[in-house]
Amino acid sequence: MLMLLELLKDGRFHSGQALGDALGISRSAIWKQLQQMEAELGLSIHKVRGRGYQLAAPIASLDSAEIGRQAAVCPWSVLVYDSIDSTNAEALRLIEHGRPSPFLVLAERQTAGRGRRGRKWVSPFAENLYYSLVLRIEGGMRQLEGLSLVVGLAVMQTLRELGVSSAGLKWPNDVLVGHKKIAGILLELVGDPADVCHVVLGVGINANMRSADEVDQEWTSVRLETGKIVDRNELTSRLSLMLKSYLDRHQMSGFSAIQQEWEQNHLWQGRPVSLIAGINKIDGVVVGIDRQGALRLMVDGVERVYSGGELSLRLRDDS
Ligand code: BTN
Repeated sequence: MLMLLELLKDGRFHSGQALGDALGISRSAIWKQLQQMEAELGLSIHKVRGRGYQLAAPIASLDSAEIGRQAAVCPWSVLVYDSIDSTNAEALRLIEHGRPSPFLVLAERQTAGRGRRGRKWVSPFAENLYYSLVLRIEGGMRQLEGLSLVVGLAVMQTLRELGVSSAGLKWPNDVLVGHKKIAGILLELVGDPADVCHVVLGVGINANMRSADEVDQEWTSVRLETGKIVDRNELTSRLSLMLKSYLDRHQMSGFSAIQQEWEQNHLWQGRPVSLIAGINKIDGVVVGIDRQGALRLMVDGVERVYSGGELSLRLRDDS
C-alpha cells in the first residue's frame, strides 16, 4: 500500500493499468489497495473514469536528506518510517540492538502512539510530527534534572518561531495554546540513571491536523492557529536546532540556568490548581518550579514540592 502511495504522492492522475504495471499487480488489486489507503490512512482519492486515480491533496513527505541539510549542525542521524507502532518504542528497540546515539526516529504515522500516563497519542498519516530523539547520558542524574521541561521549552520556542505566538507551557511538559494542547512530550529511559543510560525524548506536535474525533482532550494544531500549512521537514529541522541549543545549555549549566525562563512561560503560574496523582487530588496554588524541575505548590499556607511522571495538573473550577 505504501509503494502505491509513493506513486500517487505527486498529486497527478495515474491510470489503474499504469499503477498495476509499476507494482506488478492486477488492476483489481490496485483498487483494493486504494480502498485500504482511504480507510487506514484517512486519505481521500479522486477516481475519475478515463483518467484514473489522484490523491485529493499531494503529500509532502518527511525527507531525511532535507532535514539533514536544514539542521546540519545537529550531530544525529535521521531515520524516517512510513508507519511504525511508536517512534519511542522503535527508538528503544534500536538502543537495545546497539545503534550508536544520538539518533532521531521520525514516522509518517504511529499505529500505537504513546502518551503520558498510559494514554494513546493520536497519530494520523503525514499530518503531524512524531519525533523521538535518542541521547546517551553519562553525567548521571544532573543531566536528567528538568530534562523534560527543557524539551517543552524548546518545542514552545519552535512553535513561536512558526507563528504560534501564544504557545505556552503547562507543568510538567505540555505545550498549550490557551487551554488547548498543541504538543506533548514523553521521555523514556533505559539503563542506569545514576551512571550511563539512554533517554528517548519523544515529541508529538499537532502540525497540520484539522480534525480528529479520537482525541479525548481539547487540542489545536499549528495549521489551525496560523492558517498556514506546515512544512514538516522545516518544523523538524527547526525543532532539532532549537533542541540542540537548549540541550547544550542544559548540559553545560544544569537546569537551574533555565528554571527562570521556564517559569516565565508557565501559563499556570500563580493559578489555583488541583494536582492529580492517581485517585488522589491535592489543591494548591502554583508557586513555580524548583532547580530540578519539580512543581512548587502552596498547599494550606505551606509550600510543598511534587515530582513524578504520573502527576497531572488541572485548573481548579473556582479559578
Ligand atoms: C503526552 O501525552 O502529552 C505525550 C505525547 C507524546 C507523543 C510523542 S509522538 C512521538 C513519540 N512517540 C510516541 O509514541 N510518543 C511520543
